[in-house]
Amino acid sequence: MSPLGGPDWLRASAGAMSAFAPSDWLALDRQRDSLLVHEKPRVVLELFESLAGEPSFGYEINMYRHGLQAATFALRDGRDEETVVVALLHDIAFTLARDMHGAIAAMVLGPHISEANRWMLVHHPVFLDHHTPGHPSVDRDARERWRGHPHFEWTATFVERYDQAAVSAAEEILPLDAFRPMAERVLARRHGAAGGAAA
Ligand SMILES: [Fe+2]
Ligand SMILES: [Fe+2]
Repeated sequence: MSPLGGPDWLRASAGAMSAFAPSDWLALDRQRDSLLVHEKPRVVLELFESLAGEPSFGYEINMYRHGLQAATFALRDGRDEETVVVALLHDIAFTLARDMHGAIAAMVLGPHISEANRWMLVHHPVFLDHHTPGHPSVDRDARERWRGHPHFEWTATFVERYDQAAVSAAEEILPLDAFRPMAERVLARRHGAAGGAAA
């Protein structure tokens, strides 16, 4: 059996979930929410750290250093803590699911960040295409379908300053420890509670 998170926590041992009593569910929901406050920052940061040794597939820096550099640039610009953390983690799902990596980052960070940053995360890959004039096949104007959207300008600014620019080994890259407390604070707070019973 796995360890419980606290000495006074209840273990639901009725067998299948269909046999759990209302008191089981109340305890499970309370214990889950308490656990996730600490565990989610740890898991997200461990996932990010796991990228440290990845090859770069041809860029000067890999995805780990790209995230660190994006966060470094955002910090240097005096952006708020949330935006620095979003810059750090915006590509955290790239290796897991390249074509959906913006949406996955938005799902992971969404409960903890503003709607502007959530929307930006979802759409940043298409906005990045605007900055590839030398690419032989990319549609640089694909972002235009969202022109006029309330978060278009912020997404364009984020991608120009902190995404497309953060690919140089010659530019400053702060270490993860410079951002870890910020990430832990942002990931421990809650913008909107998610419903649902089970784990
Ligand atoms: Fe990306
Ligand atoms: Fe990126």
